Amino acid sequence: MCEKTGLESAWVLDTFAPLFKQSFIMDLFEKLNKKAGPLGQYADDAYGYYMFPKLEGEIGPEMDFRGQRMLNWSLNNYLGLANHPEVRKVDAEATAQYGLGYPMGARMMSGNSIYHEQLDRELAAFESKEDAVLLNYGYQGMVSAIDALVDRHDVIVYDAESHACIVDGVRLHMGKRFVFEHNDMASLEKQLQRATRLTAETGGAILVITEGVFGMTGAQGNLKDIVALKSTYEFRLFVDDAHGFGTMGKTGAGTGEEQNCQDGIDVYFGTFAKSMALIGGFIAADKNVVKFLRYNLRSQIYAKSVPMPIVIGALKRLDLIRKHPEFRDNLWTVVRALQSGLKAEGFDLGRTNSPVCPVIMHGTVAESTSVVHDLRENYHIFCSVVVYPVIPKGMILLRLIPTAVHNLAQVERTIKAFTEIREKLKSGAYNSEKVINMAEKN
Ligand SMILES: Cc1ncc(COP(=O)(O)O)c(C=O)c1O
Repeated sequence: MCEKTGLESAWVLDTFAPLFKQSFIMDLFEKLNKKAGPLGQYADDAYGYYMFPKLEGEIGPEMDFRGQRMLNWSLNNYLGLANHPEVRKVDAEATAQYGLGYPMGARMMSGNSIYHEQLDRELAAFESKEDAVLLNYGYQGMVSAIDALVDRHDVIVYDAESHACIVDGVRLHMGKRFVFEHNDMASLEKQLQRATRLTAETGGAILVITEGVFGMTGAQGNLKDIVALKSTYEFRLFVDDAHGFGTMGKTGAGTGEEQNCQDGIDVYFGTFAKSMALIGGFIAADKNVVKFLRYNLRSQIYAKSVPMPIVIGALKRLDLIRKHPEFRDNLWTVVRALQSGLKAEGFDLGRTNSPVCPVIMHGTVAESTSVVHDLRENYHIFCSVVVYPVIPKGMILLRLIPTAVHNLAQVERTIKAFTEIREKLKSGAYNSEKVINMAEKN
């Protein structure tokens, strides 16, 4: 009974709910049909070509796309390990022996093994940290680690250009979060001062989060300068080094090693999905922090552990990374040739100081599709394109990812093609109102 009206509430609901449903209540799926999302808005023109393309054949710098052989600059395979014969052999043998499911369950319950523990230890040693914990997916691992490390009394201070996994982790945080301008130390200090004042009231602590290498622009995070701020401010530093792990530093230990400040990184994240050409990731830190994470990382406690072939495959890849510095040398030979060649032709590569090679041009979204179409159909060069709203309006970012298995002839061919398409772009040859529709017909 409703106290105010004296009516039976069930009667009110039964009588009026259908009316409400008809007039006010939006169906969720109807709503979704109306809003495709910032990338989904291009789906009808782009599926299978600009987005969700299917590269076929053996993984490497030359692959097939829609029946044509392409020079491929779009693979997260920095060291060329994806198709290394020893890697393929170990992956196949481990899969034959264990299958893809083993071990079943979350690691805490029934999904642990001596190989998982060995990989934890080897990754920790490689990163010069006391311990490490495996993550079944890098993205979820980052989100979950941010969630686990801080509570509502703590303050997160993070870089404005952080990867989506950092942004999503920060979204879970119940306390305050302050963002500092990308790689800007004055802005970071300002936010640290705010955070310090706030934590003095809450009794909490400060976690600074940034990246080793920013994946879109290739700029290294200013890790050394951030670490130096520890002498003035009390905080811990968490670095997502997805693109730096395996590629940066003398031994490939990452951007902390590159900048000689690995000790100052308190929590180090690496993914297997780039230089290892695998899936999964890890966090390395002091043993007490890793112990805390083992028992509090919800993405690992409530999800299946990394399958055995991935663990054994990762051990093999780590071994190759340690024993074959020439993979990294080859990568950097290609990186230097590509970046210096493009710069010599006057291309704007932004702030990259890592293997990531962004080529920045100016034009509309429609023009960017013409550029990509021309590159693929006439030059047979495949690279990724990033446009508004991921980057500012009017900018076209063609993103090249060099690998250790590209060669200098491929670099030359690419520079020549880019020089030609830039001339066409400038002359208005790609001028069009419309995105070239290359979507798969189905
Ligand atoms: C900076 C950064 N962090 C985290 C991730 C997520 O890693 P994973 O692919 O292992 O989930 C990526 C991958 O794109 C990345 O670029």
